Amino acid sequence: MNKDIKKILIGEEELKAKVAELGAKITEDYRDKDLFIVCVLKGAVVFASDLIREIKLPLEIDFMAISSYGNNTKTSGVVRILKDLNMGIEDKHVLIVEDIIDSGLTLAYLVENLRTRHPASVEICTILDKKERRVADLDIKYTGFVVPDEFVVGYGLDYAEKYRNLPYIAVLKEEVYKG
Ligand code: IMP
Ligand code: MG
Repeated sequence: MNKDIKKILIGEEELKAKVAELGAKITEDYRDKDLFIVCVLKGAVVFASDLIREIKLPLEIDFMAISSYGNNTKTSGVVRILKDLNMGIEDKHVLIVEDIIDSGLTLAYLVENLRTRHPASVEICTILDKKERRVADLDIKYTGFVVPDEFVVGYGLDYAEKYRNLPYIAVLKEEVYKG
């Protein structure tokens, strides 16, 4: 285990099983539809790359970078588009793939933004949901795990850009934040 980790919340095998389950559901729901995956950079990259291989349908994927966070563990409420999609989504069935939904402000903004581009539908798939901290009113179609109100890292999620490559979801030791 990494020396900065206090405890593992969700292990590798548990993640793998959940991603397979989500992929199977999505495969059922999007049969005969033009599925367009929007992966939210950078955090969702690990989840999205595992998830698309569990979706047994033709699909397209594109990337968007939005930011509501600095090197901080609290939301600023300010959402910026750092990188937009390269492709158009008109008449496509868009599935946003996200790492974690916290206040939901980032995703609420993104959903509204994508809807103005006239897709056939927009839905959300997140591997983690920090439900107790929700501020925005969001309809999440696919959720992997509900997690407690603790800052988590791994499986794409970072603290100050580190720990994204851990294969599990974990809580850091307090001393890491104090530096
Ligand atoms: P929201 O707008 O408050 O829902 O923030 C969502 C974004 O904040 C996520 O996409 C993450 O990038 C980041 N975030 C929220 N909670 C955590 C966490 O516990 N660990 C790492 N990143 C987090
Ligand atoms: Mg994110």
